[in-house]
Amino acid sequence: MKTLRHFIDTNDFTKEELLDIIHLSLEIKQCIKAGYNPPLMKGKTLGMIFQQSSTRTRVSFETAMEQLGGHAQYLGPGMIQLGGHETIGDTGRVLSNLIDIVMARVIEHKSVVELAQASNIPVLNAMSDYNHPTQEIGDLCTIIENLPKNKKLEDCKVVFVGDGTQVCASLGFITTKLGMHFVHYGPEGHQLLDEHKKIMEENCRESGGTWDVTDDRVKALTGADFIYTDVWYGLYENEMPKEERVRVFHDYQVNREMMQMASIGCKFMHCLPATRGEDVTDEVLDSECSLAFEEAGNRLTAMRGLLVYFTQYQREQAPSQLKAEAAKEELERFMEERGLI
Ligand code: CP
Repeated sequence: MKTLRHFIDTNDFTKEELLDIIHLSLEIKQCIKAGYNPPLMKGKTLGMIFQQSSTRTRVSFETAMEQLGGHAQYLGPGMIQLGGHETIGDTGRVLSNLIDIVMARVIEHKSVVELAQASNIPVLNAMSDYNHPTQEIGDLCTIIENLPKNKKLEDCKVVFVGDGTQVCASLGFITTKLGMHFVHYGPEGHQLLDEHKKIMEENCRESGGTWDVTDDRVKALTGADFIYTDVWYGLYENEMPKEERVRVFHDYQVNREMMQMASIGCKFMHCLPATRGEDVTDEVLDSECSLAFEEAGNRLTAMRGLLVYFTQYQREQAPSQLKAEAAKEELERFMEERGLI
């Protein structure tokens, strides 16, 4: 049995631990594909805190709980006391006494950190302004299922094109942790920051991977096995008006010409939602080389793995089997005495 851990940042985990989560996710996927839904979350409840809207994250978490025999509660904006006078820390303390695991999509990264610090149950970061770690578990499942012929994970070059979003940062963190070759190809002023570069550098020193942040098109795209992009909006309050984002990013649209600069057989990835005609053309998004919709399906693969991995821990107050049986007998006696059963 493991001790309580939270999933706030993939960088809190070793390469081996991340591969364990990814392989567990893929194993459960195979099991469900074969027609057996293992009841690994039976009797467990997931709380889903959303400070922002979501399609993939919400639906995949809720479906994962359902498939594994558990239950999910959607705690959307305005639905709980959070955002009124109750702090996120107090929310975490309360939920720790009510449910088994919680995920949170937050506006500011410090909110999910505060939630984890106060909670006595696992907290999964379902995206903040800093990173998007559950997305990356699904992305790695997708990459593993679509490895180029005769290549291992460590041989692959993954190029993120465009704005240095939280998805870009997370992809840089996990690929370098796993010993892969990561490039952020983006315009100056919208590239990953020194704090991101420092983390990728440390990861590569350990893993043997490489990283680069550049606006050199040829250097970035040559030899790419996976080209990945995200929307150009900018993050939250820094969102850019359409005219400005088109001016800044128009050279970074993923289109057929760009895909032809990469390796033969290069695959296209997108965390979605995409803005068709801006960050990617229809021609690429709907092409055979596009993994974007398969990748969205693997959000569910990842959520199942994460939910199971993070609930297999020893809770201090977890009743032993013996205590649970004694409690059941006691309850039955109580009800029988009162004619309730
Ligand atoms: N990629 C992603 O997180 O999608 P949603 O915002 O729809 O959850």
